[in-house]
Amino acid sequence: MSGFKNPTLLSAAELQESEIRFLLSVAENLRTFVENDTIPPLLKGFTIAQLFFENSTRTRLSFEQAIRKLGGQVMHFSTSGSSVAKGESLVDTALNLKALGANAFTLRHGASGASQFLFNQVKLPVINAGDGQNEHPTQALLDALTLEETLGPLNGKKVLILGDITHSRVARSNIQVLSKLGAQVSLCGPGSMVSPLYRNWKVRIFDRPEEVLPSMDAVILLRVQKERHGQSLIPSLSEYARFWGLNSDRLKLLKPDAAILHPGPVNRGVELTTAVLKDSRSQIERQVENGVLVRMAVLAAACRLELLENWLQKEGFYV
Ligand code: CP
Repeated sequence: MSGFKNPTLLSAAELQESEIRFLLSVAENLRTFVENDTIPPLLKGFTIAQLFFENSTRTRLSFEQAIRKLGGQVMHFSTSGSSVAKGESLVDTALNLKALGANAFTLRHGASGASQFLFNQVKLPVINAGDGQNEHPTQALLDALTLEETLGPLNGKKVLILGDITHSRVARSNIQVLSKLGAQVSLCGPGSMVSPLYRNWKVRIFDRPEEVLPSMDAVILLRVQKERHGQSLIPSLSEYARFWGLNSDRLKLLKPDAAILHPGPVNRGVELTTAVLKDSRSQIERQVENGVLVRMAVLAAACRLELLENWLQKEGFYV
């Protein structure tokens, strides 16, 4: 009925448009129940292990909030202080957490494809919380929810992704989700940060922000991911800021009702200035709030689909 088929969320590429719309609609329906503190305990009796092999603030903590709000239990794991430091593998770690009571996993890992690999091995629900340069599907879903809240239906809307596209799992997931919802996606950044492979995707590519900002309904800024650069891809961060950063002058080019997003963490003074964070068009804090709702929807759909569908029907949300 929901069209949501797998007890996983491994990538945005695998999601059908109907599944994206289902997850966004569940997230939106949950909003009132969160505000009124009447959330259905859809994860009661379920323990979810948070396997974070890379640093995170927003994703890890919003998954944690989402699990608790739905009545589930969080099993914490981080590489520092664990037996990963002694050489224990991802699969062995997960199997041990399963033996300790984990019924599902959220996974952030530096290797592209790590979530698919783990799901193939453990056969329990796995939610991809970011895998290498590959995908960050829950980020794309929360971005879509935030954009729909601000702009209305995304069909025909023009969205620019500006920055370090090549190294960005957020960009890859966003292109998938936004295109499936009918948005026209454009990319802009230094040539060394926009892989020529994107020319085969359904996107338009621009060199300079000035060419494209005036016609956009939304701009998603991306962090310059120095930790994923093998070598310097730009002469200096100050030159990046000068030519591609969103600042007071470039803000004037944007439509008065455009939306500005950034997945975080932000490098102030590089991809944006403080003026952008203070601008009324900035939805950056709203993205973080919406992250909890989207992750509640994803966890419920992946771990307890039947319960979720029954609850939706009981509340009269089901179409
Ligand atoms: N957007 C995002 O993934 O942020 P964190 O790295 O803090 O989780």
